[in-house]
Amino acid sequence: MNILLIGSGGREHALACALAASPLCEALYAAPGNPGIAEVATCVNAADPVACAVEHAVDLVVVGPEAPLVDGLADRVRAAGIAVFGPSAAAARLEGSKGFMKDLAARCGVPTAAYARFADYDDAAAYIRTRGAPVVVKADGLAAGKGVVVAQTVDEALAAARAALCEGAFGASGAEVVVEDCLVGEEVSFFALCDGRTVRAFGSAQDHKRVGEGDTGPNTGGMGAYSPARVMTPALEARVMDRIVRPTVEGLAAMGAPFVGVLFAGLMVDPAGEPWLIEFNVRFGDPECQVLLPRLRGDLAEIVDATARGQLDAVDFGWSDEAALTVVMASKGYPNAPEKGSVIRGLERVEGAQVLHAGTVRDASGSLVAAGGRVLNVTATGPDVATAQHRAYAAVDQIDWPGGFCRRDIGWRAA
Ligand code: AMP
Ligand code: GLY
Repeated sequence: MNILLIGSGGREHALACALAASPLCEALYAAPGNPGIAEVATCVNAADPVACAVEHAVDLVVVGPEAPLVDGLADRVRAAGIAVFGPSAAAARLEGSKGFMKDLAARCGVPTAAYARFADYDDAAAYIRTRGAPVVVKADGLAAGKGVVVAQTVDEALAAARAALCEGAFGASGAEVVVEDCLVGEEVSFFALCDGRTVRAFGSAQDHKRVGEGDTGPNTGGMGAYSPARVMTPALEARVMDRIVRPTVEGLAAMGAPFVGVLFAGLMVDPAGEPWLIEFNVRFGDPECQVLLPRLRGDLAEIVDATARGQLDAVDFGWSDEAALTVVMASKGYPNAPEKGSVIRGLERVEGAQVLHAGTVRDASGSLVAAGGRVLNVTATGPDVATAQHRAYAAVDQIDWPGGFCRRDIGWRAA
C-alpha cells in the first residue's frame, strides 16, 4: 500500500517510522515532512495534499495535526475516493470548537467541568464574578495551545476574557469563549481509535506541559511524556471508555458526524480516582504519540488502514509491557521567544534511544539546525519508567546542541 502522511513534527516522525516499518507499506510519502522523516519517507510538496495523493497512487492518507482536519482535509480526501485516517470537519469540531465539545459532552452525560459560553464580554464578566476564582477561560477555536487561561484570580480571568472578546487576541478563534470551573487532580492523556462504529482504547500517556522542572513556569506544547500513565489501571480505562469516550462517539454518530481516526481525551483524574473530561483532540498527542508507538507491537499501517475502512474490530494492537519515555529538547527561549538557527551535532552517535525530529531543517551547507521551539524528541524504552528515563537522558547527553535545553525530570511522578 502507498501511504501519504500529512505533517512535519515529532509526532509525524514517530508515525513515519512505525508506518515505514510495516511490511504492508510499499511507499511512504510525507507532506511536507522534515529532515528526520526524510530518512524513512519521500518528502513531497504540501500545497495540495489531495492532488499529491492522486499523483502518487496513494491508498491511505494519515493526517497528523488538527488544523487540516478542522479545515476539512479528510472530507476532500474521501471525496477523491481515497481512504483517510482522520475525522471529517463535522467530527473535528470536537477540537475546533470548545463550545461544541462542551455542549455535546453535556448532552451525552459526560463528566466535565460546569461551563457557559459567551460572545459578549459583559455577560462573561458577570458569570466569572458569580463563579469566583480559580476559573478557566478558553478561546472557543484553535489557538495553537495558547487559548486557555487557568486563572487564579477573578481579575486574571476578566483580563483573559477581555483579551479574547474585546482585543481580538485570538482573532476569530476568540470571538466566543468558554468559561468553566477548575478541575483538580492528575492529568492523563487517553487515546481511542474509532472507525465510525467500533471504538477501542489505544493507550495512555502523561505529558509535562510546563516549561520548568517541578511543573513550573509557562505552559508549552509539552516538554516530555511517558507511557503508560501511572494512574491508568484497567478499571479506570473501562470507566473512561464507558463514561467519556463511547457516549461522545455515539453522540457524534447520532448527529450524522461519525468519528474516524484517533480520539484524544485530555482527562483530569480527581483525588477519588474519577475521570473528568478536560478536552478532546482529534489527533494523536505530541509528544504522547512518540511514547505510545514504541510500545505498540501490532502493525500501525494495518491498524490505521483498518480504522479508515471501518474494520477496526479485525486488527490486533498487542501492547508491550515496557514503558516508554520521551524528552523534548527545545531551543533556548522557548516558549516565549525561541532562538532559531543554532546548529545541532552528534545525533549519529546516539545509542539506546530514538531521536525524533520535531523542528529541524538543513541549512544550505547541509548542517542540521533548529527551526522552531520544540526541536528534538529523545525517546527510550525500558522495563519500567525509571529505566526508560535513564536511557533517554543518557542519549540527551550525547547530543551536542548548545542552543537547546530540556527538563531533567520528565516522568518524575512515575519514576
Ligand atoms: P489546552 O491548551 O487546551 O491543551 O489546555 C491547556 C491546559 O489547561 C490543560 O492541559 C489543563 O492543564 C488546563 N485546563 C484546561 N481546562 C481546565 C479545567 N477545567 N480545570 C483545570 N485545568 C484545566
Ligand atoms: N501534548 C498535548 C497535545 O498534543 O495537545
